Amino acid sequence: MLDLTNVSITFHKNTVNERKALDQVSLHLDSGDFVTVIGSNGAGKSTLLNAISGSYEIDKGKIVLDDKDLSYLKEFKRAKYIGRLFQDPLKGTAPNMTIEENLGLAYSRGRRRGLSMGIKKADEKLFREKLSQLGLGLEDRMKTKVGLLSGGQRQALTLMMATIVTPSLLLLDEHTAALDPKTAAQVMNITDEIVKENNITTMMITHNIENALEYGNKTIVMSQGKIVLELSGERRKNMTMEQLMELYSNTAHETFSDKMLL
Ligand SMILES: Nc1ncnc2c1ncn2[C@@H]1O[C@H](COP(=O)(O)OP(=O)(O)OP(=O)(O)O)[C@@H](O)[C@H]1O
Ligand SMILES: [Mg+2]
Repeated sequence: MLDLTNVSITFHKNTVNERKALDQVSLHLDSGDFVTVIGSNGAGKSTLLNAISGSYEIDKGKIVLDDKDLSYLKEFKRAKYIGRLFQDPLKGTAPNMTIEENLGLAYSRGRRRGLSMGIKKADEKLFREKLSQLGLGLEDRMKTKVGLLSGGQRQALTLMMATIVTPSLLLLDEHTAALDPKTAAQVMNITDEIVKENNITTMMITHNIENALEYGNKTIVMSQGKIVLELSGERRKNMTMEQLMELYSNTAHETFSDKMLL
């Protein structure tokens, strides 16, 4: 369960560049909710995820995840509960370490054992199983340095690392946007599988309206630092891309940027 209450962030306060990136945002997610987040450039989507992960300190408000008050907790402490993926496949993995070593690091996160104790046979078996789920053949390349993988392979591996110890919350910030369409679709399917299988509460920012309606069980629309629309249930199920775009224009008083239509 995630509860945001009146979360606000203003950048460059008391200057001409003052910008309310988050303006009293409140949001409730039940455990296992998979929310897609859309909105035009600069709407505050990434800032919202950064506020939740602790990358940005909030000015006001409250953030509660599974009864833990995260509002002013340091980012590295929140990382124990929150998995994250970004647009850039180079983020999130260590290029000079092997696939196996990267997974070992991720697996030891939140547990006492460090990588120094080496990768146990049992762990190796688990990693192999997990990797084969991805369907990319990475299970046969466990000793390959991650820097040699393609963007899509790295993003799939990062996803695996973010979820190998099931997080309370998974935050995805346009994590397929830098991939070619075929690879993006593949990583999106893997994401959906992992999220469903582990019932992970997930927030996914996307500029792809089709994905926003197809995946997950809720959609929120942001504009100028606010959540201006929340869709779920039958209303969302019956909504077409065209209807959503029209609704967006009427609610946010702006049209989707060209990027949104891709
Ligand atoms: N670290 C920062 N310092 C100053 N301003 C920032 C910072 N991060 C974001 N902003 C500003 O806050 C506003 C919201 O930005 P944000 O990155 O959250 O938008 P977004 O919805 O993710 O857009 P995009 O679709 O382009 O990724 C923008 O005006 C942006 O310039
Ligand atoms: Mg963004």
